[in-house]
Amino acid sequence: MDTVKYVLSEDQMPTSWYNIAADLPVPLPPPLHPGTGQPIGPADLAPLFPMELIKQEVSTERMIEIPEEVQKVYRQWRPTPLYRARRLEQELGTPAKIYYKYEGVSPAGSHKPNTAIPQAYYSKQEGVKRLATETGAGQWGSSLALAGALFGIEVVVYMVKVSYGQKPYRRALMETFGAKVLASPSNTTNAGRQILAEHPDSTGSLGIAISEAVEVAAMDPDTKYALGSVLNHVLLHQTVIGQEAMTQLEMAGDYPDIIVGCTGGGSNFSGIAFPFIGAKMRGERDVRVVAVEPAACPSLTRGKYAYDFGDTGHLTPLVKMHTLGSTFIPPGIHAGGLRYHGMAPLVSHLLDLGQIEASAVQQLDAFAAGVQFARAEGILPAPEANHAVAGAIAEALACKESGESKTILFNLCGHGHFDMSAYTDYMAGKLQNYEYPAEEIAMALAGLPSVG
Ligand SMILES: Cc1ncc(COP(=O)(O)O)c(C=O)c1O
Repeated sequence: MDTVKYVLSEDQMPTSWYNIAADLPVPLPPPLHPGTGQPIGPADLAPLFPMELIKQEVSTERMIEIPEEVQKVYRQWRPTPLYRARRLEQELGTPAKIYYKYEGVSPAGSHKPNTAIPQAYYSKQEGVKRLATETGAGQWGSSLALAGALFGIEVVVYMVKVSYGQKPYRRALMETFGAKVLASPSNTTNAGRQILAEHPDSTGSLGIAISEAVEVAAMDPDTKYALGSVLNHVLLHQTVIGQEAMTQLEMAGDYPDIIVGCTGGGSNFSGIAFPFIGAKMRGERDVRVVAVEPAACPSLTRGKYAYDFGDTGHLTPLVKMHTLGSTFIPPGIHAGGLRYHGMAPLVSHLLDLGQIEASAVQQLDAFAAGVQFARAEGILPAPEANHAVAGAIAEALACKESGESKTILFNLCGHGHFDMSAYTDYMAGKLQNYEYPAEEIAMALAGLPSVG
C-alpha cells in the first residue's frame, strides 16, 4: 500500500526537548548588556521571564524533560502527522520523495502552541498573573491566548497594525480565548507613542510590538513577557516536531537528504531541523538544511552577522544574529510572521558555522507554490509556510533536472484559514513583489550598536 500519513500514538510523543547547545562545536556568543557591553546573567532577565525558562535559555544539557502537565496539553493535538506528498510528487513529475510534517492540526493552526504551552505553564508555576506579548500574523498571539486560557493567566497581545487590519478573525480568536488585543504601535506605551509621534501612519513591525510588550512587562511585577520565536528556549520547545519526524521517517524506512523550513525568527525551522542537525554534528548522519526567508525581509541572505537589539525601542539585551538593523520596517507582505529584522542567534550561529544554507523567495512565488500545493494535497498553507513549500518544490524540481531520487522533508508549519484575504488578493492579481529595500536597510544597519 502507498502510505500517505505516518501517524504516531500518544505514547510515542517525545518526553524531552532536544537542546542543540549540547552538540555545538563552538559555543553560542552570549547576549550582552547594552549599557555595559558585558554578558548578561540570569538576574538581568528575571524581570521579564520565569526562572525556569531562563535556566533553559542557558542550559547545555542535551535532553530537557517535558513536564507532565505540558505533555498532557500537547496530547490534545500531538503527535502531529507526517505526510508523504505523493500527489504533489506526481504533479511535479519528480523522482524525489517529498515528506511534510503538518503542524496546522494544533488548536491555533500552527507550531506556535508547542512553546506557548510550556511558557504559560512555567509562568503559572512561578505565580505570574499576566503575560504580555507581540504577534505578527496572529498565530503566536492565538497560541499564547489559548495557553493563557488553559492555565488561567491573563494575556495582552500587541498585534502589528498591518496584520490587525489584514486578519480580523485572528483577533476574534484571541479574544474568544480571553486575551486583550491592541494594534501596535499603540498609545498605551512609551515605545508606541514615540513611534506614532514620528510616524503617525506606521503599519508597525514585530520589532515595535516587542518593545511595547517588553515595556508592559518591565513596568509591572505581576506581568512577564513571552516571546514566540528567536530565543533559545523557544527553539528548544519546538524540537518535538523534528523528534517526531525522525520516528515517523523511520516508520517509512527513510531519512532526509534535504530539510527545508521557513524562517521568520527561526523557531519552526529549528523545530524540524535541530534534531537532525544534532545527529549531523555528532557525526551520525549527514543532511543538507535550507532556511527559506522572504526576499522583502532577507536577514539571513542579506543581513549582517552582528550584535543588535531584538526590538525597535532598544529595551532588549544585545544578541549576535543576522540582522537588517533594529529600526528596519519590512514591507507589508502577507507573511506577517516573517517580518522580523533579525534571526534567532542559534540559527544565525549555525549559518555562520556552515551547518545550514539560506535562500530568499519573493511573495508572488511563495503564493504560487502555496496554491499549487493546495490543489495537489488539499491543505491550504499559511503565507509563511508557503516559503517552505516553494523551497521544497525548488529542491524537487532540481531532482527532476538531475534525475536523482532524493528525500526532502519540509515543515508545513501552519494552515492559512485565517489568511484568506491574502489568497483573495493573490488570485485577483493585487499582490506584488518587493525589491530588496537596500537604502532603508543600509540606513538601519548604519545604526547598529557598537560592541567592543
Ligand atoms: C505559521 C507561521 N509560520 C512561521 C512563522 C515564523 O516564525 P518562526 O520563524 O519562529 O517559525 C510564524 C510567525 O508568526 C507563523 O505564524
